Amino acid sequence: MSVKKAIIPAAGLGTRFLPATKAMPKEMLPIVDKPTIEYIVEEAIDSGIEDIIIVTGKGKRAIEDHFDHSFELEESLIRKEKFELLERTRKSANLDIHYIRQKSPKGLGHAIWSARKFIGNEPFAVLLGDDIVQNEKPCLKQLMDEYEEINSSIIAVQQVAESETHRYGIIDPAVSSGSRYEVSRFVEKPPKGTAPSNLAIIGRYILTPEVFRFLDDQEIGAGGEIQLTDAIEKLNKTQKVYAYEFEGKRYDVGEKLDFIKTTIDMALTREDLRKPLLDYLEGVMTNKSSLK
Ligand code: G1P
Repeated sequence: MSVKKAIIPAAGLGTRFLPATKAMPKEMLPIVDKPTIEYIVEEAIDSGIEDIIIVTGKGKRAIEDHFDHSFELEESLIRKEKFELLERTRKSANLDIHYIRQKSPKGLGHAIWSARKFIGNEPFAVLLGDDIVQNEKPCLKQLMDEYEEINSSIIAVQQVAESETHRYGIIDPAVSSGSRYEVSRFVEKPPKGTAPSNLAIIGRYILTPEVFRFLDDQEIGAGGEIQLTDAIEKLNKTQKVYAYEFEGKRYDVGEKLDFIKTTIDMALTREDLRKPLLDYLEGVMTNKSSLK
C-alpha cells in the first residue's frame, strides 16, 4: 500500500521565538513571504501526499485561516488587478487540510497518536515543521521511493556534529546498504557523550500504523514528554524500521540563526530579491569591522 496521508504536528509553544510567538503560531513565522508551515505542506504535496492532517493546539487558529479563502482579500486583489498575488494567495486555500487539536502538550509521540483515527490502518508520513530540507527531489519523496522498495517504516537521518547529538533522536546503525541502514537501536536525546553514532533523526518519517499500538501506552521519556522515538524503538523490535541518509540541505528553523540563514538562502533563490540582497550582503561584509 502506498503512502497517501501525512501528519504535520504544529502544537508546540514556540518558546524559542518569544515574544514573536506570544500571539502568533511559530509555524506562521514567514520565511521571505511564506509561512514556515507552507514550505512543509508543499513538500508533502510535491512528494505525492493526498491527505494532510495538522495537529494543532491552543492559539493556532491562524494556521487554519491561512489554508482557507479570505474573500475580502481576494476581492480586493481582483479589484486592484493583482492577479499574481491572487494566485499565490489562493494556492494555499485550495488544499484540503484536516485539523485535530492535541488536548494537552504531552510531546511529539502524543501529538502523532492524536491523529490515529485519521490515519486508520495505512502507512503514513510525518513531517516536522522545524526541519526544512532544500533539495530538487523532496526529502519526503526520497523516503517514499525507498518505502516502495522495502514496505517497512523508514526514517530520515543526517550526520550531525558530535557536540549536537544530545539534541536529537539518534540511531545505532547496524547493516547499511548505500544510504539505507538497518537499525539496532533508536534513542531519543542521549545524554552528552553516550550517543551510539552521530546519525540524527531529522523530521521526516514514514511509519506503519502498528506504531500506534506502542503509542497507546507509551510512557514518558526524555524531557518529561511522550516521545515518538521511544515508540519507534519498540516498533523496530517487532518489524524492521530503517533509516535513510537523505540528500539535501537541512535547516533547523526552530533555531534563530538557522531561521535567518534559511531566510537569506530562500531569498537568494528569488529573482526579484537575489541581486539587491547580494549587494546588501556585500556591503555588510565590507563594513563588518565597523558594525557593532
Ligand atoms: C524531534 C524528535 C527528535 C528529532 C528532532 C528533529 O525533537 O523528537 O528525535 O531528532 O525532532 O528535528 P525536537 O526537536 O522536537 O525536540
